[in-house]
Amino acid sequence: MTKILLTGATGYIGSHTWLALVDAGFEVVGVDDFSNSAPAVLPRIARLSGREPVFERLDVGDTAALSALVARERIDAAVHFAASKAVGESMEQPLAYFRNNLGGLISTAQALQANGVHCFVFSSSATVYGTPEALPIPESAPLSTANPYGLTKLHGEQLLRELERCDPRWRIAYLRYFNPVGAHESGDIGEDPRGTPNNLMPYVAQVAIGRRERLQVFGGDYPTPDGTGVRDYVHVMDLAEGHVAALRRLLDGADSMTVNLGTGRGHSVLEVVRAYERASGRRVPYDIAPRRPGDVAACYADVGLAARLLGWRARRDLAAMCEDSWRWQSKNPQGYA
Ligand code: UFG
Repeated sequence: MTKILLTGATGYIGSHTWLALVDAGFEVVGVDDFSNSAPAVLPRIARLSGREPVFERLDVGDTAALSALVARERIDAAVHFAASKAVGESMEQPLAYFRNNLGGLISTAQALQANGVHCFVFSSSATVYGTPEALPIPESAPLSTANPYGLTKLHGEQLLRELERCDPRWRIAYLRYFNPVGAHESGDIGEDPRGTPNNLMPYVAQVAIGRRERLQVFGGDYPTPDGTGVRDYVHVMDLAEGHVAALRRLLDGADSMTVNLGTGRGHSVLEVVRAYERASGRRVPYDIAPRRPGDVAACYADVGLAARLLGWRARRDLAAMCEDSWRWQSKNPQGYA
């Protein structure tokens, strides 16, 4: 069986991808330092996957420990999620973001290279498109960043492209995520943000369950159909399956690839609020607040290349994203705590 190293394995996208990989017949070796996740996810992965998780608590910045693990487990390929991801926090602590995200990436690549592993899936983001010039956004669109977090994704991509140029044995999938939301359909794993959620859907979920009073809608005067921001929300299980598809292609010998993972459809903040109210049967009171600095009016993916290269398309719609998020939120009102 093909063995995959999964870094950031107990985080939001990592934990869902773990299940998708097992489902697709891969063996997973997970690592995480629990800096933004909880050990409580592991027994749930065990139950949902029907296997005892192979896991080591480890900071990917510890190259020696990671390299020893890659050797011991005879890893074939890696999916690298381990990174910090909060835009606002990155503006308060840019150096911590550079060190953690770029340092962690370099260390992980070194641990793999030391063991002759060159098959790598990199967790990138639509944030590398900056303010999009045209919609939907193709992978060929100009790249720019507006904050330290975005810079770690853009420079992470550049660093890996240079690595490939110097050593063509590397085969890398650069996956640019749009807005991952929702949860596993069991409702037993999901997104469990620490403190106040930065992102829309977890915030809406906490209003619906009564943990927070009202949503602040950041901006009601964008040039969009209802004046609120438009994003390409993609179900986290679709995203997880996109990783499986990319990994399969690389393991089959495909060249490196840069691919958007989104649905190709935009939804406004108010559409998300209404869809969540329908899914939960709860009200989500909101106020229109000033725009959030750095936000763009609209952002959604051109998904043609993902379909052509990976044979992958997002299957779950906004209603399913909200229903699955609500199942997780209502079964786990305080997250994993
Ligand atoms: N929003 C609100 N109220 C909130 C939170 C968000 O109105 O409390 C709005 C935002 O203004 C935006 C939309 O909901 O219009 C989505 O916001 P998110 O914070 O959920 O997502 P972003 O699109 O801003 O950010 C996401 C990822 C980032 C990534 C970025 C660009 O969280 O990591 O996409 O790809 F950088």
